[in-house]
Amino acid sequence: CGIVGYVGGQSALDVVIAGLKRLEYRGYDSAGVAVLSDGGLAAAKKAGKLVNLEKELVDRPLSSGSTGIGHTRWATHGGPTDANAHPHLDNAGRVAVVHNGIIENFAALRTELAERGHDLLSETDTEVVAHLLAEEFSSVGDLAEAMRLVCRRLDGAFTLVAVHADQPDVVVGARRNSPLVVGVGEGENFLASDVSAFIAHTRSAIELGQDQVVELTREGVTVTDFDGAPADVRAYHVDWDASAAEKGGYDYFMLKEIAEQPKAVADTLLGRIGADGHLRLDEVRIPDAVLREADKIVIIACGTAFHAGLIAKYAIEHWTRIPCEVELASEFRYRDPILGQRTLVIAISQSGETMDTLMALRHAREQGAKVLAVCNTNGSTIPRESDAVLYTHAGPEVAVASTKAFLTQLVACYLLALYLGQVRGTKWGDEIHAVVRELARIGDEVERVLDTMEPVRALARSLADKDTVLFLGRHVGYPVALEGALKLKELAYMHAEGFAAGELKHGPIALIEEDLPVVVVVPSPRGRSVLHDKIVSNIQEIRARGARTIVIAEEGDEAVVPYADHLIRVPATPTLLQPLVSTVPLQVFACELATARGNEVDQPRNLAKSVTVE
Ligand code: G6P
Repeated sequence: CGIVGYVGGQSALDVVIAGLKRLEYRGYDSAGVAVLSDGGLAAAKKAGKLVNLEKELVDRPLSSGSTGIGHTRWATHGGPTDANAHPHLDNAGRVAVVHNGIIENFAALRTELAERGHDLLSETDTEVVAHLLAEEFSSVGDLAEAMRLVCRRLDGAFTLVAVHADQPDVVVGARRNSPLVVGVGEGENFLASDVSAFIAHTRSAIELGQDQVVELTREGVTVTDFDGAPADVRAYHVDWDASAAEKGGYDYFMLKEIAEQPKAVADTLLGRIGADGHLRLDEVRIPDAVLREADKIVIIACGTAFHAGLIAKYAIEHWTRIPCEVELASEFRYRDPILGQRTLVIAISQSGETMDTLMALRHAREQGAKVLAVCNTNGSTIPRESDAVLYTHAGPEVAVASTKAFLTQLVACYLLALYLGQVRGTKWGDEIHAVVRELARIGDEVERVLDTMEPVRALARSLADKDTVLFLGRHVGYPVALEGALKLKELAYMHAEGFAAGELKHGPIALIEEDLPVVVVVPSPRGRSVLHDKIVSNIQEIRARGARTIVIAEEGDEAVVPYADHLIRVPATPTLLQPLVSTVPLQVFACELATARGNEVDQPRNLAKSVTVE
């Protein structure tokens, strides 16, 4: 969910709505606002996207005020209805609260409140907080203190922002797990789930830590822990350009982000490969001695970042000979994984906020492992809680389906794998020199792929009425196939599955029928040519059973030509780097199919970009 709070000299409603627009990627099941003015509190909320709320505000305008809060929701407790939308108010309508996360003991609190005569109107866990805040406020007369008292009674993950009509110049926030950042302005202050909500007003930010309460007035920001003791906070300057979060002439953020990939890749490489071809990852704070002694690497991630991890495993094991496991973060801590002081855990996350990944990394650190985050969002929770971080420099990614962040996660993982090899004394033979050289210029190859995407778009449009598309790959092409299928599910809402091509004969081949589109990611015929020959056989096997083959193969690979109903060329690269070029047509394919099917590209149904619940 996305949260905004504002106190200052501008119209709070305007600032809050503009902020929510920036945060809509975090959830768009419903939206709401509350504004304080002339001793009163006015609220509006609406199921569906933010535009529904905006229409409501045109029909029934709220009186203007200069203190307000807002919320855009990804539903957890209670369906996406008007009643379940945030903010939630107490029965007297004096306090309003918005919330991100889950309050685990809400049922007990709800019963308790009902016994004391409170009338709860929604099915959400959040509403109990509004009622508890109203009770505490009536005895202590101060919203920040009331918030601290309430937080001490809540279990689970919650980030809350509240206002009270009796303290009209105050916004109070509380943070446990889900992110909350303060924007410090002149005569005005902001609270938001991420900086993009206030970047148009100020670049000066303060990160809130775990279990902290913040009180904002026009003039000041006061941060304490849940017991009221002053808390340490970190102030920082936001270096993202406000315009980077605009569509810049593209119809969708996703199209813009796909197009930005050459630059994102180049930015992630910048300054990290020395003139001698050696890696310079000075920012990795884990001492080389620890990296040298690591006897196991475990990668944890979710969604698209998990696919980046699967690809990283091939590179890490090949270049460093350290055993590497890749695990879905949501499964990791529940199976009692074997970790020790010589385990290096790599947590990959675009947002740096995914709750599953955060919980997995905390578990890893508790077991004594060192955690290195690969992350795109400066100051977010996952890098803060890790021993070290390697930032991807993709810039803000707004479309829910990840594209440029994925490519930069791959680049960061390759750099890391090469660096690990370097500190552990891997011989820099011809193969590694060639990989480093190629990596340094891979942005140009991505650009070349983007220049040849028109036939892919035409093909996608021609498949708009299909129900199923399958994806096959081998070696690093296998995770690419999984990512291609995920993109299609997310965006086109089609049944799409990725398989290891060798596994086909053990089951999935039964799915092949006349004219079923099957995308095959073909490895280079150079290098590991056995793999190439095997996949060419796989293509023949499915074609013989009627599949329509869509083949992604490198330039100059003639062996695939007779068996490809559609051929998509990508530049020749070293095998391990091929995902950097072969993923791009699959992103374009999914995006175009979604458009052809009339779907919302940037905000697919049911999804959210950053999922801050487990
Ligand atoms: C959500 C998004 C996915 C993303 C995943 C992991 O499910 O919809 O696109 O890959 O979270 O996000 P992260 O921010 O941790 O990379």
